[in-house]
Amino acid sequence: MKFPKLEDVDLAGKTVLLRTDLNVPMQGGKVTDNTRIMRLLPTLNYLLKKKCRIVLLSHFDRPGGKFVPSMSLAPLVDAVSEALGGKKVQFGVDCIGPAARDAVDKLKPGDIVLLENLRFHPEEEKGDVRFARELASLGDVFINDAFSASHRAHASITGIAQFLPVAAGRLMQEELEVLGSILSDAKKPIGAIVGGSKVSTKLALLENLLTTMDVLIIGGAMANTFLLAQGHDVGKSICEPSMKATAKRILKDAEKKKCRIVLPTDLVVVQQFKAHASCRVVDINAIPENYTAVDVGPYSLQVYREALQTCKTAVWNGPVGAFETSPFDASTVNLARIVGKLTGQKKLRSIAGGGDTVSALMHAGMADSFSYLSTAGGAFLEWLEGKTLPGVAVLIHAKTTGNTKSKAHG
Ligand code: 3PG
Ligand code: MG
Repeated sequence: MKFPKLEDVDLAGKTVLLRTDLNVPMQGGKVTDNTRIMRLLPTLNYLLKKKCRIVLLSHFDRPGGKFVPSMSLAPLVDAVSEALGGKKVQFGVDCIGPAARDAVDKLKPGDIVLLENLRFHPEEEKGDVRFARELASLGDVFINDAFSASHRAHASITGIAQFLPVAAGRLMQEELEVLGSILSDAKKPIGAIVGGSKVSTKLALLENLLTTMDVLIIGGAMANTFLLAQGHDVGKSICEPSMKATAKRILKDAEKKKCRIVLPTDLVVVQQFKAHASCRVVDINAIPENYTAVDVGPYSLQVYREALQTCKTAVWNGPVGAFETSPFDASTVNLARIVGKLTGQKKLRSIAGGGDTVSALMHAGMADSFSYLSTAGGAFLEWLEGKTLPGVAVLIHAKTTGNTKSKAHG
């Protein structure tokens, strides 16, 4: 796969719009896992060496096109600064309009500004061309270093690229090269572990994974919708009743496509969701009415382990329980140990992806035991389907249209 890299654009002294994914795990206004920030350092250091003025663009969470104070990127300023060894990072209170313009105009070579959450404007997710043009007008060059958001055809991912010379940042480059090389000769059987709480957007993706995967292990909130589709009463657990039909179809298609679906057989449930709440392990046939599932149970973990032992390659996106809240991290931590151990024994090649997943593996102390950690979650799942992600397509296209050096001075 060919696409322009940092070396392929003239960057010296330019104002660079750097699309990042600062949608990092946070609790109480503090970053709980800075992997997505640390992985930006190679690009940031390259741009700093080139004396660029760096404009960081990112979304955070899903504010739905309006200002939501708890989803401001302001708390990320300190986290980015800290990652850069204390270098000052400025903040622009809006990503377009006079506030953005002023913030960018003030920059001197080697300065960095982080602009406010792109998704505070509905135009971002709509891929609005005028919005993209206005963003583009803030800089000379567009660098996409957000592989993990490149499955979204949003203004800041695909739109800006129409107006500026573009290139992939180092993280984007690494993700594409490493994921490509590991999975192009992936040994079968391949197993996928999918969990997490973004049920609505990820459940539909599973349908397409049935073709590529031999085993599909489902945990976390995602599993509850499947249990519901199978006729189980899931009490007050997070689930997506509107997606019951999709879940049913997936279960049926899996048989035809010879993909083994592994669902939990027992669950950890609580009456009140809080740290160290008293909990019970129940069979999936006996989830009490007023209880919420917060983790998969110990027997499920055995079933997951046996399924993984049949695999030669494993990909993992999404924790299997509410791992941020102790002790509901137990199964995610133990599953990380199982995959890490099989990887260490060279029985498995393992790739984990996604903000929360990487955070969970760090928490389990197992991050170094995996073959590769991708910063991408949903994007990683879509990429696994064999799709060219919209943000990546733009980069590949830039190469073929010569949208690189020649226009970089524009
Ligand atoms: C992620 O966390 O996977 C990315 O930041 C994309 O987020 P989204 O699913 O809200 O688009
Ligand atoms: Mg996330």
